[in-house]
Amino acid sequence: MTRPMHQDAAATAVLRMTMELLLLLLMFSSLLSFTSATAECPDKCTCEENKINCLNQKLDRIPDHIPTATRVLILSHNQIRDIEPKSLTHLTELTVLDLSYNKISDVKIGAFANLSNLRKLYLDLNKIENIETGVFNNLTLLEDLYLAHNRIHKLDSEMFKGLTKLNRLFLYKNMIRKIPPGIFDSSTSLTTLALDENPFTCDCDILWFVNLFKKSYSNHNVFGYEVPTCHFPVEMSGKLLIEITENDVHCASPDVIEVPENKTVSVGEQLQLSCKAVGDPEPSITWAKDDIDLEPGQRVQVFQNNTLIISKVERTDGGQYKCVASNSLGRKSFEAMVNVNGLAENGSNTMFGVIPFFIIIIIFANCVLYNDIL
Ligand SMILES: *[C@@H]1O[C@H](CO)[C@@H](O)[C@H](O)[C@H]1NC(C)=O
Ligand SMILES: *[C@@H]1O[C@H](CO)[C@@H](O)[C@H](O)[C@H]1NC(C)=O
Ligand SMILES: *[C@@H]1O[C@H](CO)[C@@H](O)[C@H](O)[C@H]1NC(C)=O
Ligand SMILES: *[C@@H]1O[C@H](CO)[C@@H](O)[C@H](O)[C@H]1NC(C)=O
Repeated sequence: MTRPMHQDAAATAVLRMTMELLLLLLMFSSLLSFTSATAECPDKCTCEENKINCLNQKLDRIPDHIPTATRVLILSHNQIRDIEPKSLTHLTELTVLDLSYNKISDVKIGAFANLSNLRKLYLDLNKIENIETGVFNNLTLLEDLYLAHNRIHKLDSEMFKGLTKLNRLFLYKNMIRKIPPGIFDSSTSLTTLALDENPFTCDCDILWFVNLFKKSYSNHNVFGYEVPTCHFPVEMSGKLLIEITENDVHCASPDVIEVPENKTVSVGEQLQLSCKAVGDPEPSITWAKDDIDLEPGQRVQVFQNNTLIISKVERTDGGQYKCVASNSLGRKSFEAMVNVNGLAENGSNTMFGVIPFFIIIIIFANCVLYNDIL
């Protein structure tokens, strides 16, 4: 009678002990996770795994102490005005950053300095006017960049440099007038380039983009929903950007109509090389000697008519001269060889100078002295 009782009690005790231990373990572990969660999850945000969600919390700044391991950070629908310099730089594991629907007006250099794992960046629906050159340059794995619905009025040709993985770029509903040549050079895998609802100026400067489109994309899908249109000049308003041709904008790449000639000049003379070019926009002309740009100065002058004049030629002025005519549509260069005919002319000209006279005196004196010693 007692044995079963005793056995029962023992069994119950063991069971209770195990249960208690289990419970304790459970409590401890939940306490642990609770404390770690409260320590690491920023105020007003919810955190699970490495995803932090601070959606629609009336935040006026990016929270402090976002855990380093964060991979997804949602900060959209808040009142954030600024991306403070150090607020994101420790998030090297971040792959998605959503800052859409905020009040950001400037994006300054360093904002995304170390986010080298970032794949998606949402900055749309803000008040962005200025984006400093190079802000995105470290985001070498970035695939999607959302900049739509802002006030961006100027694109920089280096803006997307290094973004070799960029796949989708959203720039619609901004105030962009010009697309600088070369801006998409790094991003060879673009499949979406949404540019509509920008007040583009359709002049010679935009033809490069039209040509790029025809060469590299040639189907309208790349623009997403709508093909971008011209707003300026008035007579072009409403015309599809990709339908403008050289005839519409009266453009012409540079054409050199007067080429510099090969010349032989003597030391001390004047060297004059002329170069005339036509084009629309009017080409600018620069001069180079042996492939180094010439800096006009006292002796070297480039006149309004683009003529290069070097006064009092020196022996080192000899070499290959190049006139380069360039405008937004292209460049053309022409070369001329300049020989400086130095020695003979130099000798006869300076025979009457003072210095050779002294040299002769000295030589003469030396001879006399030498003879004396002997
Ligand atoms: C992030 O970049 C800054 C320089 O922009 C550097 O000083 C800092 O050490 C980097 N932080 C990390 C965690 O890599
Ligand atoms: C890119 O990263 C380097 C090294 O981490 C850093 O020094 C530099 O400031 C970053 N550049 C930008 C534009 O953020
Ligand atoms: C100038 O000289 C170079 C070689 O020195 C020659 O190839 C070129 O045809 C010459 N140009 C003219 C206009 O005579
Ligand atoms: C260009 O202007 C300079 C200075 O006015 C003049 O000396 C030169 O002869 C001109 N050259 C040509 C090709 O018209």
